[in-house]
Amino acid sequence: MDLTLCVGSSCHLKGSPAIIERITALIVEHHLEDKINLSGSFCMEQCTKGSSGVCVQVNGVHHSVTAATIDDFFRQEVLNAL
Ligand code: FES
Repeated sequence: MDLTLCVGSSCHLKGSPAIIERITALIVEHHLEDKINLSGSFCMEQCTKGSSGVCVQVNGVHHSVTAATIDDFFRQEVLNAL
């Protein structure tokens, strides 16, 4: 699974460092290091669409993720899709 986190300036202000830290911890916690290709990307051009969270792309689909929703997002969009 390809999982890409936006590290553009707008997403950085919305908390991308904390999202990266949490998602990395969740991957380790669930022993998914071999199943997930985690990478960073510059602006994915989603920040102009009014999303309040950090842009995270899973297999080509964009999601808006915040510190409050990261665990649910991981469960629904990552664990359920593996
Ligand atoms: S800075 Fe993240 S989508 Fe634009």
